[in-house]
Amino acid sequence: MDKTIIDDAICYVKSIFQNEYSGHDYFHTLRVYKTATKIAEQERGNLFIVQLAALLHDVDDIKLSPETYANKDRAVAFLKKHDLSETMIKTICDIIDEVSYKGADSTAPKSLEGKCVQDADRLDAIGAIGIARAFAYGGSHNRVIHDPDMKPSMHMNADEYQKHVSTTVNHFYEKLFLLKDLINTDTAKKIAERREDYMKAYISEFLDEWEGIR
Ligand code: ADP
Ligand code: NI
Repeated sequence: MDKTIIDDAICYVKSIFQNEYSGHDYFHTLRVYKTATKIAEQERGNLFIVQLAALLHDVDDIKLSPETYANKDRAVAFLKKHDLSETMIKTICDIIDEVSYKGADSTAPKSLEGKCVQDADRLDAIGAIGIARAFAYGGSHNRVIHDPDMKPSMHMNADEYQKHVSTTVNHFYEKLFLLKDLINTDTAKKIAERREDYMKAYISEFLDEWEGIR
């Protein structure tokens, strides 16, 4: 029964994200699902809750589906269709609420399951894949790659962070380099350290090339 719901959720997110190319695509959700499962196995979280929350975490994303964002209509409809209890639906919706990055207003999830899903989502924003997603996002939002005259803005709250328009290189300083210290679990922290080193080396190389040093 659990496996049928998970398989159905995989099909559902595939249909939702099929025309999405801004770095928030079906494969992002699939990676978050797999990474969250791996973290939860190590940390001994409830796998069913972690997997469903991971698979549904972006279906009502504010950028992708602003009209269903507030009430998570798509996630709730999916869970109701599978006859999950109100308590279970609330648990999963609370995790989805806590997962997203809100600048300086970001919070650590209360439950172990929420921590696993948030860590998996954040891990997918850093490292080699994180670099690719950042530039894909920047391109799809008509953002300039880099402009030395535009400095990063630090310590933005949720509202400022959402409205802020910047360059893609600044996004590394404004968000991506901050994620490692916001990781909740030891399992994810080890992965984050390696990914951050890689990303820092990449940006350092990028800026050297920009300056004509290499
Ligand atoms: P998620 O909740 O999956 O982390 P976000 O909506 O915060 O998703 O971001 C989706 C992807 O786009 C992430 O990889 C993120 O780093 C990237 N991204 C978000 N905002 C920007 C931006 N201003 N410039 C470049 N990349 C961005
Ligand atoms: Ni996500």
